[in-house]
Amino acid sequence: MFSSTVYSKRRQLLKEKFDSGLLLFMGNTETPMNYPHNWYQFRQDGSFLYFWSIDQADLAAVIDVDSDEEIVFGDERTVDAIIWMGQQATIAEKAAAAGVRKTKPFGELAATLRNAQKQNRTIHFLPQYRADNRAWLAHCLGTSYEKLNDGVSEQLVLAVASQRMFKSDEELAEIEKALDVAYEMHTAVMQEMAPGKKEYQLKGLVEGIVASHNAKIAFPVILSKNGQILHNTTHLNTLQNGDLVVHDSGAVVASGYCSDISRTLPVSGKFDSRQRDIYSIVLNAQQRAFEASKPGVRFQSVHLLACREIVSGLQDLGLVNGSLDDAMETGVFGFFMQCGLGHQMGLDVHDLEGLGENLIGYDATTKRSNVFGLSALRFGRELKTGHVMTVEPGIYFIPDLFDLWKKEQRLNDFINYDAVEKWLDFGGVRIEDNVVITEDGNRILGKHIPRSIDEVEATMAG
Ligand code: GLY
Repeated sequence: MFSSTVYSKRRQLLKEKFDSGLLLFMGNTETPMNYPHNWYQFRQDGSFLYFWSIDQADLAAVIDVDSDEEIVFGDERTVDAIIWMGQQATIAEKAAAAGVRKTKPFGELAATLRNAQKQNRTIHFLPQYRADNRAWLAHCLGTSYEKLNDGVSEQLVLAVASQRMFKSDEELAEIEKALDVAYEMHTAVMQEMAPGKKEYQLKGLVEGIVASHNAKIAFPVILSKNGQILHNTTHLNTLQNGDLVVHDSGAVVASGYCSDISRTLPVSGKFDSRQRDIYSIVLNAQQRAFEASKPGVRFQSVHLLACREIVSGLQDLGLVNGSLDDAMETGVFGFFMQCGLGHQMGLDVHDLEGLGENLIGYDATTKRSNVFGLSALRFGRELKTGHVMTVEPGIYFIPDLFDLWKKEQRLNDFINYDAVEKWLDFGGVRIEDNVVITEDGNRILGKHIPRSIDEVEATMAG
């Protein structure tokens, strides 16, 4: 948590963008897993953390632009709750630490909102992605669950994004703390990887390291020899020599900031020649993307540059036919890299995506493509100093996609299906790091995590 003035200034800056109305922030609630008092791990909303800092369930907060009031709504713990959960700092104390002087019971929020409605005042709110908040707010505002998000305030979304999108030095320091944890998670897996291990043993290692730092996983750990499944979250395979494992994981530190790193590892500890070929192409693509990522360049163009490197490398391996320019024009890259080159990262591992991918990731000058693969890019707009991005090119051989495209004879002149068929047991390669865009380029955040073939092999041997 930063000093109270950081939060006060953030709210002040936000307020100055509005002439009137209420700015409503819903915090997240505890969510039951299987019965009411057995909850999923709590995760506070990113915008709530950014403006109000309190990492506690069942809160909401309002800025009344007209009366210049800031209020946190929440119920202090009763003795009953203290018996079961213990005491902690009160909401009033936590609010004061974020520079907020006024708190009210949660039950008063509904009346506050309804009064504002009666007075025809605008209630600005962000997209509600949690079912309980969405249902509660819909009920409170007299609309339906389905229609609630039609009333989202684009003005508030853009105002919030315009602040959260640019990371300050103190935020970068928190991200680098999350990257310190990721460094340990990734180097430990390199050192412990061995034939005969189950994927879940390595996943457990990762989760244990995260917990030992008072951190949480930023998203379910991806660690699998089925690296072609982009977000694979089953971990049942026994690893064998010859397998290649994609390990994609990150941590959230106590302040809420995240890391998100991917490495691809040969179970034997040595990349074989096929693995080297594909890994080298992806590594080059990442290097090209690093070189190109700077203020004024669209991330969509960086994505295409990385894809060009990938297609060129695959041409050398005989998997893609035709001229490089023609192949790029057809969008053949999507057959091998079906996802985006990266996304923003910060308090959310896909930062700000809950506010609306297209509204945040695209703008009047950068439209989302509908070309397969490029269409999955979540953030395409021009990079600016202070943006934090993941850069995560990959090559994935997906048998089901192969079957479909081959049957439909899609891009027959460019995809050498006979050659690709021999790679369908390969899996995938992803290499991912986190960068901050600086005035003249970018800086890779965190300690250097072994990335080159020699570095990975040396770490695995060590
Ligand atoms: N690295 C996991 C994700 O981007 O969702």
